[in-house]
Amino acid sequence: MTTSLQRVFSGVQSTGNLHLGNYLGAIVKFVELQKSFECLYCVVDLHAITVPQNPTELRNNTREIAAAFLACGIDPKKNIVFNQSQVPEHAELAWVLNCVARIGWLNRMTQFKDKAGKDRENASVGLLDYPVLMAADILIYRATHVPVGDDQKQHLELARDIAQKFNNDFSESISRNSFGEAFFPLPEPLISGPATRVMSLRDGTKKMSKSDISDYSRINLADDADQIAQKVRKAKTDPEPLPSEEKGLEGRPEADNLVGIFAALSGRTKADILSEFGGTNFSNFKNALVDVAVAKLAPITARMREIRADETYVDTILRDGSERARSIARENMNAVKDIVGFLR
Ligand code: TYM
Repeated sequence: MTTSLQRVFSGVQSTGNLHLGNYLGAIVKFVELQKSFECLYCVVDLHAITVPQNPTELRNNTREIAAAFLACGIDPKKNIVFNQSQVPEHAELAWVLNCVARIGWLNRMTQFKDKAGKDRENASVGLLDYPVLMAADILIYRATHVPVGDDQKQHLELARDIAQKFNNDFSESISRNSFGEAFFPLPEPLISGPATRVMSLRDGTKKMSKSDISDYSRINLADDADQIAQKVRKAKTDPEPLPSEEKGLEGRPEADNLVGIFAALSGRTKADILSEFGGTNFSNFKNALVDVAVAKLAPITARMREIRADETYVDTILRDGSERARSIARENMNAVKDIVGFLR
């Protein structure tokens, strides 16, 4: 077993609508990385149930995310596309890692604090434990690279801490079992580009999110051209014209966000966009942004609907992907069992 293999893993929760933040912050990179890495892309349904889910909707959302992966250009033959609950080794490794991670580490996670709100005592244990399962998702494949949006940075740091502590705690057993110095590679977050943190269209200081009550705060991958146009036109701005240089975006979160979205969708830099639109008012810029967004997203939306309509096809992809994922996961879980001291 070698650790020199470079392997990409990432996941998206099967909750509600996928939005522009998910697309630009994560999925665009998934598509890019398949050119040079062995990649596993997972619909994380075990994570979804850390908050209550309707079973029928959960199944539908899992298929919807898988359809979005394929519609955006992820090749399910070249990569492994699957859903987490079909590979029981994720939960199995999570248990072992629960005994490595410290409660204090989890209590510091800002996403838990945000999601649990004031009534922490009433949050599910799963919500607190969420980042340990996330570490298990990555480490069960001994993945080396993890493309995510900026909001997952802290979780990735925790995954590295857990990997490191496991390697240290079991160092003797790891070398006795001939796994070299370290069993788990420390996974590297891949967070780059102009849209690592896409903000709400209603409030440039808040992240674009599936859970925002206002649908006008986000562009969903399922939105049609009219909805996209309406949302962009209604997006909050400020009264000043656009600046000609990036520095002028400082202290103007809404302008910065829209320029970042434009840049990411068009594959241009923010500086380039500003050299074109600097000094003009927002209405021109917004019209151009609608054109860019519709040109990029409409074909994806159409393809997503088409794929989603063929439930058998989507389920087959996920089942096949899960089997392939499982053959890697099982081998690594067996190694973990030997390292930890479980009979098998
Ligand atoms: P999730 O489902 O919330 O989001 C999926 C991906 O989209 C990114 N993202 C954003 N990027 C930019 N701007 C935004 N406004 C924005 N909102 C979301 C997220 O950073 C993420 O990359 N915990 C993860 C799922 C997960 C996972 C993993 C990821 C489970 N196990 C293992 C990587 C590796 C999550 O909830 O993502």
